[in-house]
Amino acid sequence: MARIVVFGGTGYTGSNVSREAAVRGHEVVSVSRSQPTDRIDGVTYEVGAADEIASNAVAGADAVVAALSPRGDMAGRLVEVYSVLAQAAADAGARYLQVGGFSSLRPAPDAPRFVEGELAEQYRAEALEGEASRVMLAERAPENLDWVFISPAGSYGSWAAGERTGTYRVGDDVALFDQDGGSSISGADFAIAIVDEVDSPEHHRAHMGVAY
Ligand SMILES: NC(=O)c1ccc[n+]([C@@H]2O[C@H](COP(=O)([O-])OP(=O)(O)OC[C@H]3O[C@@H](n4cnc5c(N)ncnc54)[C@H](OP(=O)(O)O)[C@@H]3O)[C@@H](O)[C@H]2O)c1
Repeated sequence: MARIVVFGGTGYTGSNVSREAAVRGHEVVSVSRSQPTDRIDGVTYEVGAADEIASNAVAGADAVVAALSPRGDMAGRLVEVYSVLAQAAADAGARYLQVGGFSSLRPAPDAPRFVEGELAEQYRAEALEGEASRVMLAERAPENLDWVFISPAGSYGSWAAGERTGTYRVGDDVALFDQDGGSSISGADFAIAIVDEVDSPEHHRAHMGVAY
């Protein structure tokens, strides 16, 4: 059993990860600024701003999952807050799994990342912040931090929660597409991939993508 601290554990990604980890018998602590509307059995909820309570929350953790979103009053603050979480994980000797966006992937090996091309206006700011949080890890992460940056499929999101199938594929920084050219993953299956990576680490200081 591992102690897993999920920052943003009441959000879309974080609650799916918290549920999956708790069902597997892990000790799960969720951190968010507000109380959950629905509590998940086996999850302990801590309320506070991630960057303010990071070191206390992370003490004794085996793994930290960072699943905040750069929306509302967090717009423009993601890199700053994720930097604090990364340092806290490094200080605690915990593995650090940071959730980012699809746009940080590439369409093909050595091609520019999607975020470097045209982006739909409604996703642009979030995609750029997610990418900046990847660059923070790739270029400025603490040397002793065992991190992984995790991109979901293109149509991932709370608006397309989908079903739990227990299947997924894992790639590197090149996007995976299904035989119809689609890029999707349900919330439950994305969470399975993340908790599998906690249970059986395969990626170290690397980018991984998850899709069907
Ligand atoms: N297709 C895609 O590429 C795609 C789609 C969706 C999401 N994503 C990415 O996935 C990540 C997670 O997104 P999501 O949609 O799962 O997020 P979400 O549902 O908006 O959840 C965010 C969570 O973070 C918490 N939070 C935010 N700021 C916080 C702070 N300063 N301190 C503590 N808790 C804080 C929120 O709770 P409180 O507000 O109560 O604190 C909530 O629990 C993001 O990086 C997002 O860009 C990518």
